[in-house]
Amino acid sequence: MESHCFTYVVITVLIALSVRLAETSTPCEFPAIFNFGDSNSDTGGLAAIYAYNPPPNGESYFHKPAGRYCDGRLVIDFIAESLKLPYLSAYLDSVGSNFTHGVNFATAGSTIRPQNTTFKQTGYSPISLDVQWNEFYSFYSRSQTTRQRGGVFEKLLPKAEVFSRALYTFDIGQNDLTAGYFLNMTTGEVKAYVPELLNQFKTIVKHVYGQGGRYFWIHNTGPVGCLAYVLERLPVTSAQMDKAGCASPFNEVAQFFNRGLKEAVVQLRKDLPLAAITYVDVYSVKYSLFSQSKKHGFEQPLRACCGHGGEYNYNVSTGCGSKMEVNGKDILVGKACKDPSVWINWDGYHFTEAANKQIFDQIVNGSFSDPPIPLKMACHRKLEHS
Ligand SMILES: *[C@@H]1O[C@H](CO)[C@@H](O)[C@H](O)[C@H]1NC(C)=O
Ligand SMILES: *[C@@H]1O[C@H](CO)[C@@H](O)[C@H](O)[C@H]1NC(C)=O
Ligand SMILES: *[C@@H]1O[C@H](CO)[C@@H](O)[C@H](O)[C@H]1NC(C)=O
Ligand SMILES: *[C@@H]1O[C@H](CO)[C@@H](O)[C@H](O)[C@H]1NC(C)=O
Ligand SMILES: *[C@@H]1O[C@H](CO)[C@@H](O)[C@H](O)[C@H]1NC(C)=O
Repeated sequence: MESHCFTYVVITVLIALSVRLAETSTPCEFPAIFNFGDSNSDTGGLAAIYAYNPPPNGESYFHKPAGRYCDGRLVIDFIAESLKLPYLSAYLDSVGSNFTHGVNFATAGSTIRPQNTTFKQTGYSPISLDVQWNEFYSFYSRSQTTRQRGGVFEKLLPKAEVFSRALYTFDIGQNDLTAGYFLNMTTGEVKAYVPELLNQFKTIVKHVYGQGGRYFWIHNTGPVGCLAYVLERLPVTSAQMDKAGCASPFNEVAQFFNRGLKEAVVQLRKDLPLAAITYVDVYSVKYSLFSQSKKHGFEQPLRACCGHGGEYNYNVSTGCGSKMEVNGKDILVGKACKDPSVWINWDGYHFTEAANKQIFDQIVNGSFSDPPIPLKMACHRKLEHS
């Protein structure tokens, strides 16, 4: 009897253990990615509606402009590759798109809050996060009714079951912070609206959860004070520059936003019990590229590879790929550097493919994540060591 009982206990414990191990050691096999964001993850959204994505964008990898403001792939492209999924088509790209394995709602210039200025006035996209949510909602229902028509529609749209098993990725917030500064707000004024951004962000994540989304991968915002477009257009005193040459006030605001975002994620975990939410500290990874650029194989960390003029090879009126008419002939002014693989900044605003690859390589194994679980395990709520 006693030994029976002992065996029974041992077996029960073993089963419990193996269930827990299986829960946390099985890769998730996400069938799709639904991405929300700005230019850091735009794979063709803004280019589809404003028709602006000139060469030399895309030159290093796609060998032609590919809707990305980069010489090649973005972090979201490396994420898709590593999950063995095709690159994401932009929701707004109505020609040649294939949404069977996900949709990208991000557009360059997107903000969390809708802006009160037009794209033409300030360059911020009208496709703010609430609009991206509306697009997702519309896609969710219309993709299913359209799929029922069969034929090619079945090969272009996801199955219904995909929505609850997909990975929902977010990378947005940077433009909300710069928008205030470009309207001449003080740091105090910008900080004052950060809680509103975070509330809006939480609302959208809850909406996606309400629609069945369960797995969330959330990037925090990067060190915007290290980017040429900020350094050039929002100059600070030398006392406000850090050792890496970045503008501290803007990086501090980004970190202020990130602390709030992390708290928002903690709150979301309480409010959404079935969600697995991974917070990824992309800020630290990006900052280390600038502060330890040599170690990462980069030269001239703060200058733009593709651009023209000024201390940072960046001028808002002669951007990457811009041409100027000289004696009736178009002359390329915004030229690319010779070897983008040793540059961090592509066009003053965005990271090069080489930088994006290094960022991806550092975040994929979970060492910058909370909880510290790798990308392919991001459907699990925590990493258990039992
Ligand atoms: C736009 O204007 C409305 C009304 O004045 C205001 O409530 C809102 O905060 C403004 N949005 C931004 C991004 O400034
Ligand atoms: C869309 O992509 C999927 C996955 O790569 C593929 O199986 C499908 O055939 C594609 N659809 C079309 C119409 O090419
Ligand atoms: C911000 O201040 C600059 C310099 O004083 C001025 O030229 C610009 O028009 C101002 N911008 C806005 C949106 O008020
Ligand atoms: C930017 O380019 C414009 C047009 O070529 C030029 O007028 C302006 O002086 C440049 N600005 C700087 C800061 O170099
Ligand atoms: C994750 O990858 C980075 C970069 O490849 C490496 O430095 C780090 O040690 C890895 N961390 C873990 C926990 O495997």
